[in-house]
Amino acid sequence: MSNDSTKKTLLVALGVCFVASILVSTAAVELKPIQELNKELDLRKNILSAGDLYHDGIDINSIFKEKISAQIIDLATGEFIPESDYDDVLNIEKFDVEEIASSDKWGKDIPTSEDIAGIKIMPKAMAIYTVKDDSNNVEKYILPIYGKGLWSTLYGFIALAKDMTTVKGFTFYQHGETPGLGGEVDNPKWKNSWVGKQIFDQASNLKIEVIKGAVDRGSESAKYQIDGLSGATITTRGVNNLVRFWLSGNGYGPFLSKLKGESNDK
Ligand SMILES: Cc1cc2nc3c(=O)[nH]c(=O)nc-3n(C[C@H](O)[C@H](O)[C@H](O)COP(=O)(O)O)c2cc1C
Repeated sequence: MSNDSTKKTLLVALGVCFVASILVSTAAVELKPIQELNKELDLRKNILSAGDLYHDGIDINSIFKEKISAQIIDLATGEFIPESDYDDVLNIEKFDVEEIASSDKWGKDIPTSEDIAGIKIMPKAMAIYTVKDDSNNVEKYILPIYGKGLWSTLYGFIALAKDMTTVKGFTFYQHGETPGLGGEVDNPKWKNSWVGKQIFDQASNLKIEVIKGAVDRGSESAKYQIDGLSGATITTRGVNNLVRFWLSGNGYGPFLSKLKGESNDK
């Protein structure tokens, strides 16, 4: 066959495609476990970060094991779900909110009128991460939160003190908002501005809010308010809504009330 023949050109092109596809699929299969491990490590890093337990150079897995106790709660009752009830879908070792939310057993639809986080479906149970001090006393709780921004669903954590109302940390670990606009949710200064804010007032009304513009530091409500991100009103509104959704009766409300020793009707 001549080197210039159409048949040979096609055969060589097909051969190259075949070898390349084998290489790409082998790499994808081989790298999957490593990607999963890295994803898990990144999640743990962000949990530690929300709990103010992360700094460069630490051994993430060992600090996570030492400091964090991961459990699953039933959102409706606020009770811990015993490990004997875990199954292939609901499991603290691989807690995947999307998979859980879309399962028949552990997921549910959110009525449109209540779906301020824009997520349509949600898990009936959520992972929560408890940070304990050296004497085994609870220091804080780290709660997963997520909801729609402008371009993407933002996934993150909010850490609360054991009074269940003072914010101790706030971070997103995954989103697709625009760098410099909605992406300013990752700005350390902004994340830090959440620390010390109050979720509830004395009467246990949900008060925390991300406002448009800057907080009037001298005002009565400043302790409940966080500055909005400039040029990113839609992301700001999304963050406000998702935080308020997850801290309301539809989210962690019953759990928070229970730990505050109150009735679950707030
Ligand atoms: C390329 C591009 C990317 C944008 N990314 C975001 C974003 O990530 N989050 C956001 O809220 N607004 C984003 N905006 C701006 C919104 O369209 C909208 O104008 C803005 O939320 C209004 O905010 P402001 O009232 O603070 O100006 C983007 C606009 C453009 C043109």
